[in-house]
Amino acid sequence: MKIAVLPGDGIGTEIVAEAVKVLDVLDLKFEMESALVGGAAYEAHGHPLPESTLKLAKESDAVLFGAVGDWKYDKLDRPLRPEQAILGLRKNLGLFANFRPAICYEQLVDASSLKPELIAGLDILIIRELTGDIYFGQPRGRRTAVDGHFPGAEEAFDTMRYSRPEVERIARVAFEAARKRSKRVTSVDKANVLETFQFWKDIVTEIGKEYPDVELDHMYVDNAAMQLVKAPKKFDVVVTGNMFGDILSDEAAMLTGSIGMLPSASLNASNQGLYEPSHGSAPDIAGKGVANPLATILSAAMMLRFSLNQPEAADRIESAVKHVLASGLRTGDIWSEGTKRVGAREMGDAVVAAITKKTITG
Ligand code: IPM
Ligand code: MG
Repeated sequence: MKIAVLPGDGIGTEIVAEAVKVLDVLDLKFEMESALVGGAAYEAHGHPLPESTLKLAKESDAVLFGAVGDWKYDKLDRPLRPEQAILGLRKNLGLFANFRPAICYEQLVDASSLKPELIAGLDILIIRELTGDIYFGQPRGRRTAVDGHFPGAEEAFDTMRYSRPEVERIARVAFEAARKRSKRVTSVDKANVLETFQFWKDIVTEIGKEYPDVELDHMYVDNAAMQLVKAPKKFDVVVTGNMFGDILSDEAAMLTGSIGMLPSASLNASNQGLYEPSHGSAPDIAGKGVANPLATILSAAMMLRFSLNQPEAADRIESAVKHVLASGLRTGDIWSEGTKRVGAREMGDAVVAAITKKTITG
């Protein structure tokens, strides 16, 4: 088994280092190889996703990814911007199924901006389609308008599109995931306005018939955005397209009060996966050693479970994280009165200590 380790930019290097430390202590048999990605790769090789990095990712069973991006690259041509690295990896590895759990940890209930009773016990799973939709749809570009409100004016355009197999496969992923949870799926669309999402809704309904044990409902995306803050616990598995999933998963993450806690997995048809924290590269705190490494550590746990077939090791990481939270350690993003503020390294060390202690006591 081989893991490609791609720390990227900003806090990426600090948090991935902690996750690697945790993986090392598990003493499992896999090889880890690091490579540059994002702005760091652009600086060194002139491209955010160099051929060598892509090759390493392709030949690995899993990719452990930090984060990419920094404001200083905003002026670069789009194909050279750090974000293109993650989009390129998704596309080239065919990582169409993105799992973004939003779990509210008991100890962090007060970190949310929502009332505790709304989010205590929250455990929802957003499944975002990741390689289609307006993100990748062609054609796109700039041109002179030939019609519309201002013929002859400069205009820009993107294309929202989904093919039947793309919708079918993500729908199946969602129904299968729901079978392992509370057997409920909410499909989020904009079928009242968009042809693409009427098509989406029709196909999800069809596939739903293959899963009579799973309850399916449909919700327009604007309503879903509202319900997520009004009564988030009514959701269980949410399945949606690339664009809506991008937006709703940030919203869901914030419900938990701690985007620094949320892992994610992006899988292809052969369970090869890319694992990354749900948060970004946070250039404002990079290099200060204060970032929260737990989302990345929990992403490593998802990696062990989904791509490396090591569920017990994943359990050990997850219970170590709970143990560390229960012991009162907090990075700045989740700190509250009465808890102990620590940096990324101390947090990683504490998780390692919790794991090794478990090993000794069995
Ligand atoms: C995410 C991010 C990416 C996306 C960006 C960095 C391209 O926001 O993973 O949610 O839009 O998918
Ligand atoms: Mg996003």
